[in-house]
Amino acid sequence: MNKARIAVLVSGGGTNLQALIDAQNNNIINNGEIRLVISNKPEAYALKRADKANIDAICINKKECGSQEAFEKAIIAKLEAYGIDLIVLAGFMSILSEEFTSRYPKRIINIHPSLIPSFCGKGYYGLHVHEAALAKGVKVTGATVHFVNEIPDGGEIIMQKAVEVKDGDTAEALQLRVMEEAEWIILPAAVEMIAKEIAK
Ligand code: GAR
Repeated sequence: MNKARIAVLVSGGGTNLQALIDAQNNNIINNGEIRLVISNKPEAYALKRADKANIDAICINKKECGSQEAFEKAIIAKLEAYGIDLIVLAGFMSILSEEFTSRYPKRIINIHPSLIPSFCGKGYYGLHVHEAALAKGVKVTGATVHFVNEIPDGGEIIMQKAVEVKDGDTAEALQLRVMEEAEWIILPAAVEMIAKEIAK
C-alpha cells in the first residue's frame, strides 16, 4: 500500500505533532506517514520531537527568507523534494497566502483550538483563543480541524469536538483541557481519514 506522505508545519511546543507521531506508532494513523516537519521558528521544541522520532526536520525562517513569497517558495521546494501529499498545520502560527493555499486544494488541514466559527480568524491563535472564550463566558468550547483556504480559519470543517468550560478556568487550564480532550484526538483522526482518501 502507498501511504500518503505527510508534512507537518509547526511553530512551537509541538504537542499536536507529538499526538500525530504517537498515533502513527499506535496504528491510529495507518494510511499516512509523516515524512517531514517544517518549523518557521528555530527554537520550536517541535523540531526536537521530530528528531527524537527520526523524522526529517528543518527550520525555514521568514526573516531570513526576506519576504512572504521567498518564505513560501522555500517551503514549496521542500514539499516537492519530499513528494508531500498532505500538509498538516499543527500550531503553525504564520498565515499562508492565497498563492500557496490555492496550490494545494483540500490538501492542507489545520487544527484550531475553538469551535469555528467562534473565536477564529486573524488574531485568534494559541492562548488568545482561550482568553477570548473565557472573556465571553461561553460554557462550551472545543477544537476544529478544517481544510485551509485563503480565508484564515475559513475552510471547510472536517471534524469538531466540544469541551466543557469549568468555573474558575484559567486560559492555560482551558487550553490544556481542549488539547487533551479534543485536539490530540481529532487531529490524528482527521489525518487518517484524509490520508485514506489520498492513499486509495
Ligand atoms: C494548539 O492549541 C493549536 O490548536 C493552536 O496552537 C496550539 C499549538 O500547540 N493553533 C492555533 O491557534 C492556530 N490558529 P502545539 O505546538 O503544542 O501543538
